[in-house]
Amino acid sequence: MDSILNIAVFASGNGTTLQALINKQQEYGYRVGVVVTNRTCVALERAQAAEIPTLQSKDWKEIDQALTEKHIQLIVLAGFLAIIPEWICQKWEQHIINIHPSLLPKHGGKGMYGIHVQEAVLAAGDRMAGCTVHYVSAEVDGGSIIAQATVFVEDNDTADTLAQRVQIEEKLLLPQVIGELKKTSKKLPSEVLRINSK
Ligand code: GAR
Repeated sequence: MDSILNIAVFASGNGTTLQALINKQQEYGYRVGVVVTNRTCVALERAQAAEIPTLQSKDWKEIDQALTEKHIQLIVLAGFLAIIPEWICQKWEQHIINIHPSLLPKHGGKGMYGIHVQEAVLAAGDRMAGCTVHYVSAEVDGGSIIAQATVFVEDNDTADTLAQRVQIEEKLLLPQVIGELKKTSKKLPSEVLRINSK
């Protein structure tokens, strides 16, 4: 039995988080088995450069089928800017995680992504910022929290400088969390994922 955790990474943009996940596969004992994008993006190029199978699609039945065929055990949303349909959240419950660039429950929800999040942190006058890895539920950014990493907000921070520091933490935290989830891999068999197959 293959003890390497087989993950799917979903991305929509530059894919720097995807790249960190690719770079740390060996260290944390997982394999990026497929990269799913909802549009043509740099993340797609990064996956192709690493010779990882890709799927560019907005058809959730097609996506779900590909994940099942590839025996994916965990879906990792890494800068994936699309709402996940409720049936996917239910079917993959506890097997789908997201990284969000704030200390949830602060600064989450619809429209809160990328640089908008750090703009909101500065506008709120927060002294702490950071990122959160959480399970995905039907409520946007509302699933239970797995882990967080924090950074201090400096007086001279702009949204860009803050985002840069938060992203460094994201790239450390996300692979580490996947490594931890792998240790509980008894809860992540691909068989479980097929029970409610649509
Ligand atoms: C990351 O900072 C990620 O946390 C954020 O998008 C960025 C993706 O960067 N995700 C969200 O804001 C989701 N609400 P990347 O494309 O370079 O990996």
